[in-house]
Amino acid sequence: MMRKWAAVALMLGVMAGCDDGEGGDAADMGMVQGEAPEAYTMICSSCHGAEGGGTTLGPDIRNPAEWGYGDHVVRNGRDEMDEFSSGMPAYADGIVAQDSLDAIWTWLGQAEKPGDGAGLFARFCANCHDVDGSGGRAEKTVIIDEATIRAIVRSGHGGDAFGNATQYMPAFDTDLITDAELDLIVEHIGTL
Ligand code: HEC
Ligand code: HEC
Repeated sequence: MMRKWAAVALMLGVMAGCDDGEGGDAADMGMVQGEAPEAYTMICSSCHGAEGGGTTLGPDIRNPAEWGYGDHVVRNGRDEMDEFSSGMPAYADGIVAQDSLDAIWTWLGQAEKPGDGAGLFARFCANCHDVDGSGGRAEKTVIIDEATIRAIVRSGHGGDAFGNATQYMPAFDTDLITDAELDLIVEHIGTL
């Protein structure tokens, strides 16, 4: 793991020194998605994958329900998910400017959504509650009565306490998760 870290740190060091006008690297790195913002491809893709779907070094992040939350994680870094042996480094504005970050959230939010409950749960819920819904970094099971599940998905919890893993849950409106998709998620939770 230390060796991987050293490689990432080296890459970031090189990148920090780069001008941001270079677009050619994406093709060299074998990206299939041409429209990723350049800052994403250069800095985030090594851990989160070319399209944001995650790797062994970082989770699926195609779920930006609340940009303030994403901003908080990027600016402060974090190391709370047991699934990953290393954490997420913090990136200051000088490395990833705010407008680049906004473009990254917009792009991630455009990712095609899974059509089944398990896939939707993995995309929108598992980073905080674990794939089996048992608790995860939120330390709260989702396996409870249907009405409560539906209510909290729409309302969220904890306001903008983005740094508080056991309090903050984003509110998902019907643009993010449609009523039909919520039905699939609830059905999936019923099988856990
Ligand atoms: C060195 C690997 C690495 C790089 C590079 C990296 N991340 Fe992460 N990221 C992680 C890990 C690991 C986590 C999980 C953190 C934890 O354990 O709490 C994470 C978590 C996140 C989360 C929170 C996901 C959630 O559902 O809570 C977001 C958002 C995120 N990263 C965005 C980014 C963006 C945007 C970039 C590029 C500017 C980036 N990351 C670069 C490793 C990385
Ligand atoms: C960013 C992290 C995060 C994400 C993403 C997230 N949750 Fe949560 N969730 C939490 C936290 C933290 C709590 C605990 C809040 C509290 O104290 O009631 C919670 C609580 C819950 C509860 C328990 C409510 C209760 O009263 O016991 C359910 C059910 C739930 N979430 C379902 C979901 C579903 C379904 C999704 C995906 C659509 C989801 N959550 C996505 C963080 C998250």
